[in-house]
Amino acid sequence: MTQTVITGSGLYTPPNSATNEELVAAFNKHVDLYNQKHAAEIEAGDLEALQYSSEAFIEKASGIKSRYFVDASGILDPERMIPNANEGTWVEDKTKMSQMIMAIEASEKAMEEAGLQPEDIDLIVFSSTIMQQHVPSMAITLQSILGTKGFAYDTQMACSSATFGLAQAESFIKSGMAKRALVVTAEYLSPLMNYKDRDSHFIFGDVGVATIVEREDLMKGNKGFRMVSSRLHTELSENITAYWSFVSRLTPEKIDDSYLYFKQEGRKVFKELLPMVIGLIGDHLEENDLAASDLKRMWLHQANINMNLFAAKKLLGRDPSFEEAPTVLEEYGNTGGAGCIIAFDKYHDDFKAGEKGILCSFGAGYSIGSVVVEYIKK
Ligand SMILES: CC(C)(COP(=O)(O)OP(=O)(O)OC[C@H]1O[C@@H](n2cnc3c(N)ncnc32)[C@H](O)[C@@H]1OP(=O)(O)O)[C@@H](O)C(=O)NCCC(=O)NCCS
Repeated sequence: MTQTVITGSGLYTPPNSATNEELVAAFNKHVDLYNQKHAAEIEAGDLEALQYSSEAFIEKASGIKSRYFVDASGILDPERMIPNANEGTWVEDKTKMSQMIMAIEASEKAMEEAGLQPEDIDLIVFSSTIMQQHVPSMAITLQSILGTKGFAYDTQMACSSATFGLAQAESFIKSGMAKRALVVTAEYLSPLMNYKDRDSHFIFGDVGVATIVEREDLMKGNKGFRMVSSRLHTELSENITAYWSFVSRLTPEKIDDSYLYFKQEGRKVFKELLPMVIGLIGDHLEENDLAASDLKRMWLHQANINMNLFAAKKLLGRDPSFEEAPTVLEEYGNTGGAGCIIAFDKYHDDFKAGEKGILCSFGAGYSIGSVVVEYIKK
């Protein structure tokens, strides 16, 4: 049977960032400006005063201390609260597109680790929460910039984008339609956020990740993570939404409505999604005659610290060590579909042949993607 192996990963970290302190200072200034502007309506009881955000709440509720942004200055401007565009002349030069910058650097690093040249790749799966450009696709544009062969296409699966992309690459390779795939998740999420929303202004950051999946018998390098088994699951929920669409321009008067941007019922997500995730991982491991304790590492979706630790603890039946379930939330925040790959990229060098791990993402949709891997060395 054809085997597939993850032989490289790459991470692009944007040059700008914002700490909780900086984000909360901007948000609270925005609150002051709003409450002053609407003082009469608030006084008359016709409007509710906005409430301050707090660094202590953010750290306790999410474990996030900082996050990276393509642009932080617009988000930290209390009069703006939207990222500034850093686009240059991207319509003429696609290498200047913010999302493409992330994709290119992450892809080059992944190819380097796998010891591949662009012409060795015959499939790009550009799998991200959002696409900066729809026609032509981001994937085909990246294909032409890098010089990869074969075919390339876009797919969107919110927080599970990277694991769904990996599973698609695995399927294409196993079916014989491709030999070596580049899976790219470039999460340019900040333009989709409502930085005036106290419940969610602190959650997300921008980042780019990429992985290489190769047919095992064609591997150019001598090591990697064999994809033992993949499992995907979806189930509709409106508890995480971002209804922004190209048809939004048809109703410009509604363009500032917060329902267009990221919105969530965080408590419901926590309560509904976690049992699904724990159940799916448990079943997936059992199908492969594995227990959580057989895994060296769980590279989990980086949603928030409480969710991550809860899932890992339920699966192991005890508190996980950092090595068993590493988190990158403190520095990167929630990075949508990229989170589990950031953790993988940073924490995989200590594996020995035969040791196993699981990549698992979960989030909006709802969607869950789970990939069991085994380290191999030839
Ligand atoms: C989002 C999440 C971190 C919020 O934590 P929480 O403990 O559930 O917080 P709540 O939204 O219930 O708010 C608790 C209180 O803090 C307040 N609060 C909310 N945001 C705040 C902020 N930025 N600063 C200060 N207080 C805040 C709320 O108003 C509420 O006050 P109340 O108790 O007086 O009503 C949490 O629900 C969660 O982890 N959800 C999982 C979903 C997730 O991470 N999704 C990401 C996409 S996968």
